[in-house]
Amino acid sequence: MVKRVLVSGVILGAFLALLSTIVSNQGTAEEGKKNPQDLAVERSRREVRMLDDIYKTAVVLVTEHYVKTDSDLAAGSAFKVLFESIAKKGWHEARLVDATGHPYSDLNLPKEGFEKKAIAELLAGKPSYDQVITEDGKRYLVAATAIPVVMEKCIMCHENYRNVEKGKAIGAISYKVPIQE
Ligand code: HEC
Repeated sequence: MVKRVLVSGVILGAFLALLSTIVSNQGTAEEGKKNPQDLAVERSRREVRMLDDIYKTAVVLVTEHYVKTDSDLAAGSAFKVLFESIAKKGWHEARLVDATGHPYSDLNLPKEGFEKKAIAELLAGKPSYDQVITEDGKRYLVAATAIPVVMEKCIMCHENYRNVEKGKAIGAISYKVPIQE
């Protein structure tokens, strides 16, 4: 009888100890941690930063090495095709947007809503601007990152960049990335 009480006491004690470890672990694990939805947005922001580095590095490389005259295929035109095929595959949407008011193609004017707001923010000096939107119950990160005149050669085709203050945005890459919850 005493033995049984002792045994069950030990079992109960062990159970309580285990329970308190679980509770305290949960406590410490959650301390300082953002909720999962915020973490998903952070991952999408990281994805945009990576894409932005890849796309912009590639645009500069193409312009530097392959574009010799204003009749050569512009990186801007080649990337339009690239962006279309990436969107068709369902990865994300991306497009080149003008910030000067005088685009090469009017199709590249910022769209009403997010893009107009984002261009205003970039012209005010922000390097990037983003928002979380919901469409059909799915969340997306829409983002825009500034494009300054990175090389003299850009002016060969975009005469209007000549008078733009150094470092100021003349355009943006606008993104729409699905948020993986
Ligand atoms: C060979 C000519 C050429 C050069 C050089 C060139 N672009 Fe373009 N750019 C174009 C053309 C053509 C388009 C329009 C593409 C389309 O939408 O079909 C364009 C589009 C753009 C757009 C979208 C807004 C708009 O004007 O339609 C931006 C932003 C842009 N270029 C930035 C740059 C930057 C920055 C450089 C230098 C790294 C550069 N371009 C060099 C020809 C050029």
